[in-house]
Amino acid sequence: MRPVTLHTDRLELSVPTAGDVDAIFAACQDPEVQRYTTVPTPYRRAHAEGFVEKAAAWWDAGTETTWAVRRDGMLSGMVGLHRLGRGDGELGYWMAPDARGRGFLTEAARAVVDWGFSPAEGERGLGLARIEWRAVAGNIASARAARALGFRYEGLLRQALLHSSGRRDDAWIAGLLPGDDRTPQEWPVLAG
Ligand SMILES: CC(C)(COP(=O)(O)OP(=O)(O)OC[C@H]1O[C@@H](n2cnc3c(N)ncnc32)[C@H](O)[C@@H]1OP(=O)(O)O)[C@@H](O)C(=O)NCCC(=O)NCCS
Repeated sequence: MRPVTLHTDRLELSVPTAGDVDAIFAACQDPEVQRYTTVPTPYRRAHAEGFVEKAAAWWDAGTETTWAVRRDGMLSGMVGLHRLGRGDGELGYWMAPDARGRGFLTEAARAVVDWGFSPAEGERGLGLARIEWRAVAGNIASARAARALGFRYEGLLRQALLHSSGRRDDAWIAGLLPGDDRTPQEWPVLAG
């Protein structure tokens, strides 16, 4: 699959490149990225170099579609659809600490979800039947973002997440179907 560039009001989403290595390396030092995503710990520059190479290969193979989130040309975060190939996929994301809390992630991920559900004909999207979200139980910021996107909370998967350190965590799971009303729903694990 050829890499796709997406645009929103404030952001451009495009394939990560070698020019992003420094910014990815810096962002992945953040304790929350390390705690809540599957990035290696400790995170070295070589991991960022390997990641941009793999991201290009994943686009080629159609197994994962990964975008660098760019604001005024600066890398603000990463968002992607993972575990593709069965007609569904899993949404994943992180934002650099200095880019958080301004709705950039929600804006970027909404464009990704829309593209994932758009018909595959004419390379407009992937025509997915379901997009899933999983997070370490207790990751409130990620859960609020998923809820804002319209995801419905589906439950807790005990010890389902395996971190690169070997640590296991309970996971919250949520899902979104193409026909779902995207109005944020009540999540029993989120107050307010
Ligand atoms: C999760 C993450 C990507 C959210 O990024 P962000 O830029 O803050 O997201 P947005 O500004 O688009 O806000 C999305 C929602 O999260 C909420 N939020 C953001 N930071 C929050 C925090 N620290 N605590 C509680 N809620 C928070 C916002 O209020 C918003 O919810 P609302 O629409 O109900 O008000 C970011 O915190 C992050 O990178 N965390 C570390 C990596 C991670 O957890 N990735 C997800 C793995 S599943």
